[in-house]
Amino acid sequence: MKLFIDTANLDEIKTAQSWGILDGVTTNPTLLSREKGNFRNILRSICEVVDGPVSGEVVSLDAEGMIKEGKDLATIHSNIVIKIPMTLEGLKAIKSLTAAGIRTNTTLVFSPLQALLAAKAGTTFVSPFVGRLDDIHQVGMDIVSQIVTIYENYRYETEVIVASIRNPLHIVEAAMFGAHICTIPFSVMQKMVKHPLTDSGIKRFLEDWKKVEK
Ligand code: E4P
Repeated sequence: MKLFIDTANLDEIKTAQSWGILDGVTTNPTLLSREKGNFRNILRSICEVVDGPVSGEVVSLDAEGMIKEGKDLATIHSNIVIKIPMTLEGLKAIKSLTAAGIRTNTTLVFSPLQALLAAKAGTTFVSPFVGRLDDIHQVGMDIVSQIVTIYENYRYETEVIVASIRNPLHIVEAAMFGAHICTIPFSVMQKMVKHPLTDSGIKRFLEDWKKVEK
């Protein structure tokens, strides 16, 4: 499974990159709004740190505007992937950008049928938002399972990025369902490595090591 970080914060990205497990980055307008500096410079800096897909999102609502923005964002760096919202206009933009050789990440996906349409339009990545579904008491992971099955049934090459992850269990379930990628907030990524038995085990080994003749 590939692990992306879901942030536009360069310090978090550099730290996760130093762990040697980072495959890509996703940003969105909300995440960029939390950072200081011009958004293009932020995206460029992220691409210089991480050698993998870096999603930047369009804000136009019409296909023509999305395509124009997408082509412009793609000039920032070859790692840039264009995030397009799941709408009819978005589908048109995905088709056109894909034909132009520009990779897309279809975002704000909340149903398997939306994901099917995005794959048919040729999107490179699709992002089901599991946490936001959980928030409205629908089981978000259900659509991940459905999307993975549908893509396997028809051999779509679109990769599933499980997004809107709120806790480590979302990642376990995503991996069990065979999702290609999880995009994970920094705080959840830190939690993945932790286990109290690991910590107490290290403490005990170090204490016992003191008693070993050297
Ligand atoms: C990633 O592509 C999404 O923008 C992100 O995971 C959304 O997460 P949220 O629901 O916590 O805002």
